[in-house]
Amino acid sequence: MRGMMVAGNWKMNGSQAMLASLLQQLAEVPVSRDVVICPPYPYLAEAVRLVTDSCIAIGAQNSAAESDGAFTGEVSANMLADSGCRYVILGHSERRALYAEDDDLVLKKTAQALNAGLDVILCVGETLEQRQAGMANSTVARQLQKPVKCLSKDEWKRVIVAYEPVWAIGTGETATPDQAQDMHHHIRSILSEKSSDIAAETRLLYGGSVKASNAADLFQQPDIDGALVGGASLDAEQFLSICNA
Ligand code: PGA
Repeated sequence: MRGMMVAGNWKMNGSQAMLASLLQQLAEVPVSRDVVICPPYPYLAEAVRLVTDSCIAIGAQNSAAESDGAFTGEVSANMLADSGCRYVILGHSERRALYAEDDDLVLKKTAQALNAGLDVILCVGETLEQRQAGMANSTVARQLQKPVKCLSKDEWKRVIVAYEPVWAIGTGETATPDQAQDMHHHIRSILSEKSSDIAAETRLLYGGSVKASNAADLFQQPDIDGALVGGASLDAEQFLSICNA
């Protein structure tokens, strides 16, 4: 797969009006890479409608570990695919920290989503304490261990890994291009346990305070294939310049 991708994670932000205006501004300016927008659930169907005939794809920010049934409040991967979504973000650090999603649950959700035909943006990343304790690499290795072991090679072709150091998310503090490159290189070496093709072909996004001002330096690194953007994806001008960085 490879090739550059920029995905915007709106988190619990935005409105119907903002969706229409942002997608209109994105459509007017050609973007030079694959672009995915991940608004909250209520806006997905409308987002899919608005991007018809454009090169922008729509993703969700989470999906259920089960396929259907009595799970009040949950949204299944099948429903997302049925609504026209192509991607889902899973294992985001906010889901892991605030909603107690552990590696087993993230794997279960990933398998469901792939089975439903969605591509998965699988997030990994260490906390500041883990980095300071010299445990950044081992934390990310642990988060990838089950997906690498349990998903088939064919399934891995539809997995994108987003490295998002927790200390850089929403803090304004970005990993330096060297720090990000080192971790992305480490992730490729973990993926090579599955196969050298998977290691070479899997897209690796960086996330954590990506802005128009730092995107180009990050994107120059050999193992960085784009970005998962939070805050800056809510501003069409910022997001566009990241897409074109
Ligand atoms: P941020 O968020 O760009 O606001 O740091 C990134 C993310 O959480 O995906």
